Amino acid sequence: MKYILGAVAAFATASLAAPALEVAPRQASGCASPVTLTGNPFASKTLHPNNFYRAEVTAAAAAISDASLKASALKVANVGSFLWIDTIANIARIEPALKDVPCNNILGLVIYDLPGRDCAAKASNGELPVGSINRYKTEYIDPIVKLIKAHPNTAFALVIEPDSLPNLVTNANLATCQSSASGYREGVAYALKNLNLPNVIMYLDAGHGGWLGWDANLTPGAQELASAWKNAGSPAQLRGVSSNVAGWNAWIKTPGEFENTPDGKYNKAQDEKRYVQYFGAALAAAGMPNKFIVDTGRNAVQGLRLEWGDWCNVNGAGFGVRPTSNTGDAGVDAFVWVKPGGESDGTSDTSAVRYDSFCGKNDAYKPAPEAGTWNQAYFEMLLRNAKPAF
Ligand code: GLC
Repeated sequence: MKYILGAVAAFATASLAAPALEVAPRQASGCASPVTLTGNPFASKTLHPNNFYRAEVTAAAAAISDASLKASALKVANVGSFLWIDTIANIARIEPALKDVPCNNILGLVIYDLPGRDCAAKASNGELPVGSINRYKTEYIDPIVKLIKAHPNTAFALVIEPDSLPNLVTNANLATCQSSASGYREGVAYALKNLNLPNVIMYLDAGHGGWLGWDANLTPGAQELASAWKNAGSPAQLRGVSSNVAGWNAWIKTPGEFENTPDGKYNKAQDEKRYVQYFGAALAAAGMPNKFIVDTGRNAVQGLRLEWGDWCNVNGAGFGVRPTSNTGDAGVDAFVWVKPGGESDGTSDTSAVRYDSFCGKNDAYKPAPEAGTWNQAYFEMLLRNAKPAF
């Protein structure tokens, strides 16, 4: 009894001296009141340097002995990039990432777990088999929706399912893409419909100029995306599309890298700026919002690919333009870093289940670990070749 009284007395004394005992304020997270996003979200909010990539980059910097390269590496930790939610388990990365998002930042997430994911390649095949659309809805999308609703004071930018609908347009001859098709269409529409929240802006992935930019692909591509959006009930929080995600195309390059090849004349979208123009027009004709965000994370160096479609760990690449809404193009909301530079596109181990021959091509960096895992040497190469330099 005596002890308790003593404790109460001590507490009372402490409360009287309250100002001196205040805990240091935590770093601000979110805004003071619920966020409603309209228009270009990047005009007022900076893409958040999320804690996951910051940790990867900080560890990478610690492993560099050269002092000036180490200092440059640490600067990458302050660059905003998207956090990939590539498995159900990795939904758990969202909550920690939400702890330090200031009101003037927007947290970027990539929604990437469709059944039969990556139907035209092997490196990023997903965890959900074709047919498991109900698991995609209830175990993947629904929990993400719940988390975002629980954080109404934070702004989110979402890239929806990279490569999925573009694969249906151009790889319909593959049995894998045929069997994935209905799940992709239903899954994307479900994601767009349910993630249509006031504090969210969505961009549906549209591949890149060397993909849906071919004359023959512009209209079918735009119609495929537009029908997913319409099937979702034409959600207002979709601004348009993402392009060049994990890609290598220049923003502006004349002539384009592959413009003077024999079939160059069949594609007017020889750089991403021209893709915005031509695919943007096709989207408008198909009745869908057509603002772009363009991934400039790894496109600093051109002339590296043997063929336009080469996508895996391109050797000689460098970090590109930092995220900004200052794009000089009314059709483009922002240049962003979607692919976290340093994470692999696919393994070069020919005996691995997810080995894709693109990762063994002469223009692909080797050795490379499994898709999504860290490649220190590749990160250092991106850093050395960065434009602008760090
Ligand atoms: C690849 C991987 C995925 C990873 C992403 C970002 O697509 O398949 O697991 O999260 O790249 O590095």
